[in-house]
Amino acid sequence: MSTYTVTVEPVGREVECDEDQTILEACLRAGVWLPHSCTHGTCATCKLDKLEGDVDLGEASSFALMDFERDDDKILACCAKPQSDVTIEADLDVDEDMEVHPVQDFTGTVALLEDIAQDTKRLVVELDREIGFNAGQYMKFTVPATEKDGEGLEEVDRTWSIASPPGEATRLEFHIRNVPGGRGTDGWVFAGLAEGDQVRLSGPYGRFVLKTTDDKHAILVGGGTGVAPLKSMVRHALEAGEYEGEITLYAGGRTRAHLYDVAAFRALEEEHEDQFTYRPCLSEETAEQVSADGEDPDGYAYGLVTEVIEEDHARLGGCRGYLCGPPPMVDAALKTMMGRRLFPRDILREDFFDESDKNSGGLKSPLIKR
Ligand SMILES: Cc1cc2nc3c(=O)[nH]c(=O)nc-3n(C[C@H](O)[C@H](O)[C@H](O)COP(=O)(O)OP(=O)(O)OC[C@H]3O[C@@H](n4cnc5c(N)ncnc54)[C@H](O)[C@@H]3O)c2cc1C
Ligand code: FES
Repeated sequence: MSTYTVTVEPVGREVECDEDQTILEACLRAGVWLPHSCTHGTCATCKLDKLEGDVDLGEASSFALMDFERDDDKILACCAKPQSDVTIEADLDVDEDMEVHPVQDFTGTVALLEDIAQDTKRLVVELDREIGFNAGQYMKFTVPATEKDGEGLEEVDRTWSIASPPGEATRLEFHIRNVPGGRGTDGWVFAGLAEGDQVRLSGPYGRFVLKTTDDKHAILVGGGTGVAPLKSMVRHALEAGEYEGEITLYAGGRTRAHLYDVAAFRALEEEHEDQFTYRPCLSEETAEQVSADGEDPDGYAYGLVTEVIEEDHARLGGCRGYLCGPPPMVDAALKTMMGRRLFPRDILREDFFDESDKNSGGLKSPLIKR
């Protein structure tokens, strides 16, 4: 196998990159931080200029990297693999709130795999050694090769956000929703994976991180398992005392059966009543239904998370938004927040793009830099 040198301008850093490795992967492993989000060719966050050399553009979606951009020597670093020595130019500004932890490979043991909500499991992995990461980042799992309908399927990578705080450096928690027909979920986590199994994973990845130097009111909005990185942020902020500002978490689900960790968030709210507010939102259940089951109807908000936010806040100027979950929910929450006077620069988003988004175009909102 050939190895090439990738020179990263404007700093002139040189990174060795194998021909079957993406430029992003090589840089992150060498501790050279390049902007990125989805790491699978959908969001365009990692788009940069190739100044010299040849690359294979890989599986960049035609939405994330348009034809004219290809002609203009733009590349997606998360897909492009070198075919010669290459020089790239990238925006290397690292957020002051982010500690750069080079990506590393880990093996882990499944310590817990339990149902926590409808079609949703909690996966806890005990790592072979400590990992450093920022609250909000994610890991890439290797989904093993398998056979389906007599056909051999190669191993693939799937990304899941870390739900535990950075202080828990060897035991990572994940929340995973089943996607019917999905390789990683339906075909693995919800099929054969069991406690005691060994898994391979790498990380940390992503730039959706809690801005710990802030003291703005943090409005966290999660749909379904979009709560995962937000749980990491909330626990890091409250338990480790890493955030000065107020925090409100909106967790959206269709019914109570779709929400999870409600009791844990309520306990945190009670313990940190001056700083933390938890708003579980039900879009398909009413206060009457909750009451009929003997639960306090005031423990929930009713409607889509966007509707509840609109009711709660006439203005959001001066706050900071953290949006995470299915891309349509993230887009809707972005519009709601902007409608309440929150600038795009004060909104961070993590879209849970999957393989189908590559074809349909993950980039739906040009309003905000990813
Ligand atoms: C940064 C990030 C963080 C994430 N964090 C989480 C998390 O914490 N929890 C969570 O539950 N999810 C998370 N996700 C989503 C997760 O990465 C997976 O996409 C999701 O779990 C589905 O994986 P899968 O392998 O089961 O499905 P896939 O095999 O990826 O399939 C997904 C869907 O696409 C269809 N499909 C597959 N291949 C194609 C194709 N070539 N063309 C068209 N359609 C296709 C499938 O039929 C299925 O409906 C995250 C995503 C990102 C980008
Ligand atoms: S990080 Fe490369 S397209 Fe999303």
